Amino acid sequence: MTAAIGTDIDRAASLIAGGGLVAFATETVYGLGANAYDARAVARIFEAKGRPRFDPLIVHLGDASWLPQVASVVSPLAQRLIDAFWPGPLTLVLPKTDRVPDLVTAGLPTVAVRMPAHPSALALLRRANVPIAAPSANLFGHVSPTTAQHVAEQLGSRVDYILDGGPCEVGIESTIIDVSGGQPTLLRPGGLALEQLEALIGPIAVVDATSLENEPQLSPGRLSRHYATRTPLVIAEGNELPPAGRRAGLLTLIADPLINEFAAVEILSSRGDLAEAAANLFAAMRRLDAAGLDLIVARPVPESGLGRAINDRLRRAAVRHSVN
Ligand code: TXA
Ligand code: MG
Repeated sequence: MTAAIGTDIDRAASLIAGGGLVAFATETVYGLGANAYDARAVARIFEAKGRPRFDPLIVHLGDASWLPQVASVVSPLAQRLIDAFWPGPLTLVLPKTDRVPDLVTAGLPTVAVRMPAHPSALALLRRANVPIAAPSANLFGHVSPTTAQHVAEQLGSRVDYILDGGPCEVGIESTIIDVSGGQPTLLRPGGLALEQLEALIGPIAVVDATSLENEPQLSPGRLSRHYATRTPLVIAEGNELPPAGRRAGLLTLIADPLINEFAAVEILSSRGDLAEAAANLFAAMRRLDAAGLDLIVARPVPESGLGRAINDRLRRAAVRHSVN
């Protein structure tokens, strides 16, 4: 069974007000939202996704002026980031207020917040007039949805309504920066390039992903199970033939001389544009996953701009299969 899909903001907002779950489009990926102040509604998010409760959620705001409701301290540096990049694909980790239920933050003293740029997300937030807690609208550990159809396929009747805002323009989750004190730290590369952030505020510490694996409370969402396809995925530089006797698919930024050797090919951006590649990434992973392959071979992209976030998602999809 699938949930109703539509563009009815009033219906979506009244479901949120009544403790329901609404999947909605943002410019990054679709979110699975509930009233952030309603712990019972938030608990339903964890159930619907099969998400462990130690993995905290992002709180979405309809306007930057709502921030004092959920964040107790906003440093001048955090304010500069907000002024420059909100609304947009930037999540800030800040000290939380008492109004935010512990379930939202998995007991952490901080809360992750962002103001999305998608008009339908903003319309929903403003109509509901409450902050909306929302993780990506996929089952835990799977690829994030970038269309309403992706949400329906994975969550079906576990969600009360899917607010269709079309395909997500950015296509990859928000960049997460911890600005709760001390040195600003990148917790997750995402839809806003690190270079753009550093141009404004100077150097940002980058936490080694493998160290985070051992300390899930630092950034719980960086578990290796994230972004996985069911088909095993390996990362390989160019010039390597697919393994003999296996039906392999190729995930690559641009065409290369070996594409004819693969049973299926996804080219993320024929002109090598990393923003276009990010927008196509998750849908391409889903198509390859559905193609009945034995193996997906992914080529890393240049490690700059949005390439950092693309490679991060590919590595996480690959780790799952080398670990399990
Ligand atoms: O683009 C996005 O960020 C999408 C859209 C829907 O906004 N959301 C998203 O949510 O990607 P999710 O749950 O898939 O990833 C959010 C991650 C968590 O897994 C966790 O790592 C991090 O945000 N997070 C949340 N609260 C945190 C906190 N207080 N401290 C550190 N990390 C936190
Ligand atoms: Mg997610």
